[in-house]
Order: sequence, then structure tokens, then C-alpha cells
Amino acid sequence: MARGYYRRCELTMERFLPDPFNAQPDARLYRTGDLARFHPDGTMEFLGRTDFQVKVRGLRIEPGEVEAAFAEHPAVRDVVVIARDLPHDADGKQLVAYVVPVEGARVPDTAVTAQVSGWQDLFDQSYRRDAGARAADFNITGWTSSYTNQPLPDEEMRVWLDSTVDRILALQPRRVLEIGSGTGMLLARIAPHCSEYWGTDLSATAVDYVRERVVPVLPETVDVRLLHRAADDFAGLDTETFDVVVLNSVVQYFPSPRYLRAVIDQALARVRPGGALFLGDLRSLPMLPSLHTEIELIRAEPGLTVGRLRERIRQRTAYERELLLAPEFFTALRAEHPAIGRIEVMLKRGDRHNELTRYRYDVVLHVGDRGGDRPSPHRVAWTSVDDVRRLLAADRPDALAVDGIPNSRVAAVNAFMSTMDGVPDATAVADLPRPDAGSGVEPDLCLRLGEELGYHVDVAWVGGASDGRYRATFRRPDSGHLADWTDPPEPGRASHTYANNPELLALSRWLSADVGRFLRDSVPDYMVPSAVVAIAEFPINSNGKLDRDALPPPVRGVESTGRVVAPHTDAERQIAEIWQEVLGLDEVSVDRGFFALGGDSLLGIQMVSRAKARGMALSPQDVFQSHTIAELAALADSRGPVQSGSTVERDARMLEWARSHHPDAEDAYPATGMQGYALDRMRQQPGAGVFLTHQWFQFSDQGLDPDALERAWQHVVDRFPALRSSYLRDADGRWVQVVHPRRPGAGAGSPGRRRRRGCCSSRSTTTRTTTCTCSA
Ligand SMILES: C[S@@+](CC[C@H](N)C(=O)[O-])C[C@H]1O[C@@H](n2cnc3c(N)ncnc32)[C@H](O)[C@@H]1O
Repeated sequence: MARGYYRRCELTMERFLPDPFNAQPDARLYRTGDLARFHPDGTMEFLGRTDFQVKVRGLRIEPGEVEAAFAEHPAVRDVVVIARDLPHDADGKQLVAYVVPVEGARVPDTAVTAQVSGWQDLFDQSYRRDAGARAADFNITGWTSSYTNQPLPDEEMRVWLDSTVDRILALQPRRVLEIGSGTGMLLARIAPHCSEYWGTDLSATAVDYVRERVVPVLPETVDVRLLHRAADDFAGLDTETFDVVVLNSVVQYFPSPRYLRAVIDQALARVRPGGALFLGDLRSLPMLPSLHTEIELIRAEPGLTVGRLRERIRQRTAYERELLLAPEFFTALRAEHPAIGRIEVMLKRGDRHNELTRYRYDVVLHVGDRGGDRPSPHRVAWTSVDDVRRLLAADRPDALAVDGIPNSRVAAVNAFMSTMDGVPDATAVADLPRPDAGSGVEPDLCLRLGEELGYHVDVAWVGGASDGRYRATFRRPDSGHLADWTDPPEPGRASHTYANNPELLALSRWLSADVGRFLRDSVPDYMVPSAVVAIAEFPINSNGKLDRDALPPPVRGVESTGRVVAPHTDAERQIAEIWQEVLGLDEVSVDRGFFALGGDSLLGIQMVSRAKARGMALSPQDVFQSHTIAELAALADSRGPVQSGSTVERDARMLEWARSHHPDAEDAYPATGMQGYALDRMRQQPGAGVFLTHQWFQFSDQGLDPDALERAWQHVVDRFPALRSSYLRDADGRWVQVVHPRRPGAGAGSPGRRRRRGCCSSRSTTTRTTTCTCSA
């Protein structure tokens, strides 16, 4: 091929090596820089390039080798390993593996369970805390501003509620199923127009609240049914059909696009032809960086640089805990789902600018109505309000779509983002000009213009835009035009790629914990990545190559200052541990604030409940008022320990009901949220065995006395009612624990001599034991 490099002797010696396999003395091999390995069958596998060799803690590492070994992991489709600078250590580097998971890769079910039940705990707690504090039909508990962490003002929430109710009532439903009905704000206003209203929610507290506070004031003409259950549980609803199924402000709490799809598929199957699925208050995926830019600007400390701000925005966007959707999700879904007809996409109404009006939207999926060959509206590009007014007034078109209207609600953040675009990383954020919010058009102005000129107006996003541009379609009521959002997805893109996937965060955590075990036998310890980040796709630059700079730093980097003040007291240590758990950080500094580190009000509640479980007397208000770990620890210390755990009042009616199934029942009380979720999962997937633990003890030559074992076990069962409990589901779908009496001899759960199958039916208790004799 060649004898060497022209006049570059040193390079020639480095690259053209003596060929040990050849007898000729001057035969050479060329070092290409590619890394490959031979398989036993003689084929060769390309593992990557060696020119990305990196040094971590003084040791040379071939990322290609680590990538090749980790690519064998069953959850991994593609992997890139890079050495990243440690955020607070100028010389330090860490090895990070970025993984695109295989289609359908899942963390073990318990992690998804934990995610769903995490939301359940949060809602249960916040509803419990605020129960009774508000008018029964306007309980806006949980609606807090991400900018200030304060409750959203009542008047803004009223506009939000009124317009949501109007949109659902416009569908003229008589039979409604609302999934995630919360405190019943929609139910209270919509049910009086219906013959039947079914509400379901993951939070038992919410279901009880609606039953006790909202239903009693409804007219008797409506039949309200309330069920405590997760959104993907449609058990018992197989034969029901509804005019409208509502999912309002719920989708963001779903753990993954897969879960959402399962809910949508089941919901659509229960909508009658001509009916609709209303998905309200969806969070916009393309506008997520704008929201985080606004939040980070509010939280910015003096001296914050543009580079650090960019990194925070990228990181918060990458590690978003809630599920967000781009509107193309729905046009892609329509191509996948034959039942979906017309699609309406609607910006929220309201002149007040808040995160709901800026970044949320409503969608209606009409079932069966595909629109056929309805004419499309005439389209024009946006110029000015006066031009639109002139066109409508003079020509009176049947339908006119005005495209690309700049959105006043996000004009300021858009302007800030474009100012920041070309600025060097070291620039201080404080030195950038803050543009005023003067430009753009109020979406509600288009609605008023339509009203003035006798037009219906649909205000929807422009597909593919991330700056909130919108389209106003003016339809003459007599024209036969109907709203239909048709902006297509990119060719070949499936619906789920228009959603982020909060499950990736769980997958990252799980893979980070698993990587050491998995690579143990294939690479030395120092080559095991210290963090694994699961991402949907690798970012690609304009040359079509991997954009390494766009890979988000691993979660620990959310911490924003270099200095880490370690905890000193026991209370500080405990709170620091809790923050690390709930915020997903490796370390926290006791002088940093909860919200500055990415906490929000719901996580604040979770933090408080974990602190209580450790005996610390803290309330959610404390988290708002005393921001740092040090302050909270001092407060907890000054109050002394609290009794952890909660008690449940004995409910005589529940026991009476349980006795109608088990006449000898000793006690009955509600199952916890986590138990309920586990039981639902076990019913749906009886063979999965995720919530079963098995232990096997073998006694050899130790003179085991089976009768003594049986007596000992009986003693344990007598002592602990939980071991004598079984579970029943009541008419509202709530799980109830029923305690069975002690039964001398053949007590529930005592070791039987035969193997029995199954678990957690209404008859069997939670523990099962078996003894058997093995032949030698
Ligand atoms: C923000 S509230 C919305 C309540 C109501 N739809 C409304 O618009 O007023 C969200 C509700 O969804 C419920 N939720 C969250 N995740 C859920 C899930 N996976 N299945 C069922 N309900 C869920 C919560 O318990 C909470 O009550």
C-alpha cells in the first residue's frame, strides 16, 4: 500500500510496525487506529477508534473497549463512553456511559411502581394537608407556580378552570369518564349537565374528598361513580361506553410514553363513535427549554455565567421528571390508531401570563370523525392584526388560517434566548440586556377579533416550532369547516418520539447501579463508568456526527456551586440524605436551598414525609420558609422528635362489610397506596411475581422437628396480624386488608405439608410456608 509517510520518519515508525507474522525482514503492518476483536468463529468485530483514548485518575482507558463490553447489556442498544470533567474539580474526570436503550427496555417493574406510587403519596399528602381549607368545588391544592413555588392566584386558576369546563361542555357529553379526577373541580361543574359521571383517581384521599365534599351538593339527576385506581386500570369498565373521556392535568404524572399509550388505547376503546377523548393541560415538550430558562433566570445567583446557565437549562430539560408532549404526538398517533379522527389542538385561554397559559395546551381526539374531503382553510402568513381584520371583513372567507403569529406570552424569554445564543460562556448573565416583553400578539386577541367579526377561532401551535408561534384559524359558523390539526410528524417518526420519557431517569439510575456488576468480568474496575445516562437518541451535529458537547452531564451536576459544605450534625446528615434521594443528587451542600437545587413544591412534600418517617418534625411550610439544610436541621432539632408512622381510625362500616365476605374477620382497614398498586399489578400480571419474595432454608442432619417449627411459626402468625391478613376490593375499587383470627394448629400461614399455588386472592393470606423432605 505504502512504504511510509513522506519525510516523516517518526510517524512512519509509529504507524508502520514490523510484521511479526511475516518472515520477510522489512515486512510491515500499518496501525490504523481502529479497535477490533476476533470472535471464536474467525469473524472480526469493529469496536471503535483508539484515538479517543482518555485518561481518568491517571489511567489510560479505551472507551471503545468499555463500549463494546457494555453493549452486551440486554437493555443497551447503543452506547458511547466519554470522560467528562468533574463539575467542581478542575483536574478531575469521570467516565460516563451514554446509553440509548433497546426498544422496550424497562427498569424492573418496582421502579415504575415506585414512580407512580411516588406521585400517589404526594397527591395523597397534599390533599390531606389542605382538605377543608377551600371551597369544596374549587380546591386548587397542588397548583403551584414553578417560578415562585407559591400557589397560583385564585383568579388565574378560575380562568383556567372556566375555559377547561367550557371546552369539555362544548362536546355535549351525557356520560363522562374522568381519569385522575383529583379534587373534583371539573366534576363539580360538568356532572350537573350529565346523566352519569365516573371519576377515578390514584389518590384515595382525593376520591374520599370528592365523595364526602363534592358529590353531596350535586343534583340527584346525575349518577356519580368514584373509583380509586391507577389510570391504566380499566378493570370492570369493559362494557361501559362514554361520550367523553377526560384526562385533564394528569398525563404529566404518567411514568412513560408507553404508559400513556396504554391509557389512551384503553380510553379510546371506551369512547362511543362520535365521542371524544379530551386531554387537557398537556405540557409542551418543544417549549421546555424556554420554561427552564425562565425558572433558572429567576433563581440565578449573582455572578452566574452564561455557560453555567446553558448547562443548567440543558440538564433540567434532559432530566425532566414529568411527561411532556409535542403536538405532533397526536398526528403521529392518528396514523397508528384507526379510531382517531379529527384532532383539535388548543392553546390555553387567558390574558394573564403564567406557566399554564405559556406552556400548556388542550387536545381533543374525536373518535371516528376523519373529516374526509372537507375543504382546507385558505392559508396566509402572519403580517399584522390590521391585515387580518381587513381580510376577514372585506372578503368574508369561509375559513382563513393565519400562520406563524408571534406569541406575546413568551416574547420576553424568546428574545432573551436569542440574545444568549452567540454569547461566550464566560459572560455574566447579569451583563446581558433583559429584553422587554413588548412584542408578539395575545392569543386571546384573535379570539376577540373573531367574536367581533362573527367567526369561530381555533388557536393552535404551529407544528415543529419551539418558540410558541401559533396559528389562528377563523371559521364562519355557517361554513361547514371544522377544527382539525393536521401538521404532520416527520416522515418515519413514531408517536412516542414526540414525548420525553421520565422512565429514562429511572433507567439511568438502575443502569448506574448495575454497570459495575455487569462489567465485572469484562473490564478492570477503573474502566467501569461512574455514571450511566440513558437518553432517547444521541444528539447529532450538522456534520451528521455525534455531538459530544450536547450530551447532558450526569445528574449529580445539577448542583450549581462548586463549594460543598458537608453536614455536621445528625439532623443535617439525615436531611442531606433525603435531599439526595428525592433530588437524585450525589452530594448536596448544607448551605444550598431546596428549590435552587431543582426541588419543587411536590418534591418538598415528599421530602417532608421522609423526614417525618425519620422522626423529624417538619412541615411543607418549613421547606418554603427555611431554605437550606442547615436551617431546616436547626428547626427540626429545636422541635424535638416526632412519632413516625400514621394511625388509621377504625372504621366500623368497613369491618361490617368485610364480615359479609369473611364472617370471622377480626379487623379491616384500608390498604396503603403502595399495597394497592402492588395488588393491582399482581392481578393484571399474575405470573410476573415482582412483588413476591421467596426464601428457602435447607436443614441437613440437624434433627429438625417439623412440629416445633410449626408451633414457632404459629406463634409468629398469632403475634402479627399482617401475616393473617388477606385483601379484598370494595365496590369502589379500593383495596381493604382483612385480618383473620388466630387459628390454633392450622392457622393461616402455618407451614403446610403440601405445595400450594397462587397468592393474594381474597381467601389466601400474605404469607405461605411449606415444608418438604428432600431425599439425599
Ligand atoms: C393535577 S390533578 C388534576 C385533577 C383533575 N383532573 C383536574 O383537572 O382538576 C392530578 C390528579 O391525577 C392523579 N394521578 C396522578 N397520576 C395518576 C395515575 N397514574 N393514575 C390515576 N391518577 C393519577 C393525582 O392523584 C391527582 O389527583
